[in-house]
Amino acid sequence: MLIRRRPSWELPESAATPEHLFFSRRALLGAGAGLAAFAALPATAQAQAVGDPSGDPTKDLYPAKKNPAYTVSTPVTPEDISANYNNFYEFGSDQMNYSVARIAAKMPRRPWTVKIDGLVEQEREVGIDDLIRAMTLEERLYRHRCVEAWSMVVPWTGFPMKDLVAYAKPLSGAKYVRMETFLNPKVAPGQNRFVYPWPYVDGLTMAEATNELAFMVTGIYGKPAPNQYGAPLRLTVPWKYGFKSVKSIVRISFVAERPVGLWEKVQGREYGFWANVNPEVAHPRWSQASERDIGTGERRPTLLYNGYAEQVAPIYAGLDKTEKLFM
Ligand code: MTE
Repeated sequence: MLIRRRPSWELPESAATPEHLFFSRRALLGAGAGLAAFAALPATAQAQAVGDPSGDPTKDLYPAKKNPAYTVSTPVTPEDISANYNNFYEFGSDQMNYSVARIAAKMPRRPWTVKIDGLVEQEREVGIDDLIRAMTLEERLYRHRCVEAWSMVVPWTGFPMKDLVAYAKPLSGAKYVRMETFLNPKVAPGQNRFVYPWPYVDGLTMAEATNELAFMVTGIYGKPAPNQYGAPLRLTVPWKYGFKSVKSIVRISFVAERPVGLWEKVQGREYGFWANVNPEVAHPRWSQASERDIGTGERRPTLLYNGYAEQVAPIYAGLDKTEKLFM
């Protein structure tokens, strides 16, 4: 997760298989699809199969209506900056040199199904386009704060997570929502790094998942999200550190037990389940008091719950006595 200061558990890139070896052995279009099948596809299908958002089958839904309730006073981060400063370990850990975006661009976006399972009235698999079209998309401007002490402000398009919860029809025993990223090392070279317990997983309590701010993202800057942001479906929970916002989701499970996220598994002393933003609670290895805005380069003070205390503090009333809410 940490790019500039390498975490103690992380292997140096030199210990991982070089990127060109992954590419030489990866199938051009991922599992099962060969060159001949690719050539037979219509141009739009070819484009979206190789991860080009301009061929996205839901692009007619953009730009979605802006929701004026969710705005931010600090400047929006320019797209060319946020699109090239991504944290998506499946595609490498070198966030600074544009390689995450470049490698992620080759991820096939379709076909893509999302499995909804666990404690629900009926388990099912739904095609991403059917899921997106069953929801009403809107645009929200949110602050986004990474645990590494950088931040940005971006216009996400998507739908409230509480609508997804309603769609899934959870049973009363469901206490948490667990989200899982795809697992395909042929497409995602980072998944060949066995130091990480792939697939990427994280989760929320039902109270968090149904809070008005929890948002399922399908697009950004008024169009379908390019792959590096976690297309075709990711979470954003703006009052928490960014690692809670699972990208490229293929499975959503309603469960009774608290899920253990990838980072919590790797380094539980530093990355916990709650991970709410708090400037007064330092990461064991650095301060969280301020953050660097990647758009303006300015350093600004970090806010409690990343500035969303009014909407989310009630979720945690009384819990601070028993839980480590801020790591
Ligand atoms: N989801 C997956 N599947 N893999 C990841 O490496 N990184 C997380 C989160 N979701 C990550 C992920 C972290 S640490 C952050 S800060 C955000 O994605 C970054 O989102 P962004 O690249 O859109 O800014």
